[in-house]
Amino acid sequence: MTTMRAVQARAAGGPEVLELVERPIPEPGPGEVRIRLEAIGLNYIDTYQRAGLYPVKMPAVLGLEGAGVVDAVGPGVRLHKVGDRVAFGNGPLGAYAEFHVAPEDRVVALPDGLDARKAAAMMLKGMTAEFLLCRCYPVRPGDPVLIHAASGGVGQIMTQWAKALGAEVIGTVGSEAKAEVARRNGCDHLILYREEDVAERVKAITGGEGVAVVYDGIGAATFDGSLKSLRRRGMLVSFGNASGPVPPIQPLRLSQGGSLYLTRPTLFDYVATRAELEESASALFEVVTSGKVRIDIGQTFRLEEARRAHEALEARETTGSTLLLP
Ligand SMILES: NC(=O)c1ccc[n+]([C@@H]2O[C@H](COP(=O)([O-])OP(=O)(O)OC[C@H]3O[C@@H](n4cnc5c(N)ncnc54)[C@H](OP(=O)(O)O)[C@@H]3O)[C@@H](O)[C@H]2O)c1
Repeated sequence: MTTMRAVQARAAGGPEVLELVERPIPEPGPGEVRIRLEAIGLNYIDTYQRAGLYPVKMPAVLGLEGAGVVDAVGPGVRLHKVGDRVAFGNGPLGAYAEFHVAPEDRVVALPDGLDARKAAAMMLKGMTAEFLLCRCYPVRPGDPVLIHAASGGVGQIMTQWAKALGAEVIGTVGSEAKAEVARRNGCDHLILYREEDVAERVKAITGGEGVAVVYDGIGAATFDGSLKSLRRRGMLVSFGNASGPVPPIQPLRLSQGGSLYLTRPTLFDYVATRAELEESASALFEVVTSGKVRIDIGQTFRLEEARRAHEALEARETTGSTLLLP
């Protein structure tokens, strides 16, 4: 076998630009490993890259997260060997395929008992939860926190992890069915943000004070409500654009809101070195293998159904993590 199936975006656009293609199986170069993928993680960022919000060179095989078995190594590889069970969650791009080549230092070994599907469902989303909760704004016991899209992929992991850190978690969700999912993960309070005013509810729940931190992956639609939900000197962590990017804001608004902090982080800056990546992945493996955080694979699609998977994610039809199976 010299070719493999892959899904590429032929140009920037809607889900219809995704197409199944035959590609030569890539050869690992110096310092690279080739992974035979058993599962591929779908992430909201894939839709931004497909649509052109985060430009990538087209045509492009999308996908930043996956897990499987090392089946070839390039010259000089030291960290992994053929047969190792591994995963990655910060690229490189190209995981929507049967095989993927990655620099060895972006790939981590999987602990025993963690299967490839679960790993592919948690690497990018779980390391995101780690850096947001432990390093971007380090959550302390008793902190009231607001997590948007609490039943989503990142949202479910964050809710459980924040509870394990001792936070009081307020979650937003798009429907009653999703509220039930978020409740099972330990959300103390739920807001149906398509019907209710988020800041008003947050203020009522926190006795008028507001939350210490808002984790907002929704962007344009929630930004104002997030700012208004903060207590004095609280922090807005704006980490995504599921509803579109946040328009420019005046720094004065942070002053008027109570000397607020605003950050717009990305995982790639928090796992930029091998040491950071290993620490983030180890912390994630610990909370998952100890049972503090359960990974919910809400839905799976065959690799060739990537278009349908993108449509479902963008239509808010999914809960938890979504996998593509090669
Ligand atoms: N900065 C980083 O490093 C980083 C890393 C990973 C993820 N992220 C961001 O985290 C967010 C969550 O990612 P994910 O992959 O786990 O996705 P997800 O949360 O599983 O899916 C997105 C969810 O957002 C909610 N949503 C609200 N308004 C929406 C709209 N107008 N269109 C679509 N969805 C809307 C929906 O939940 P409801 O129906 O409950 O509203 C939807 O299910 C994304 O913004 C992503 O870009 C950022």
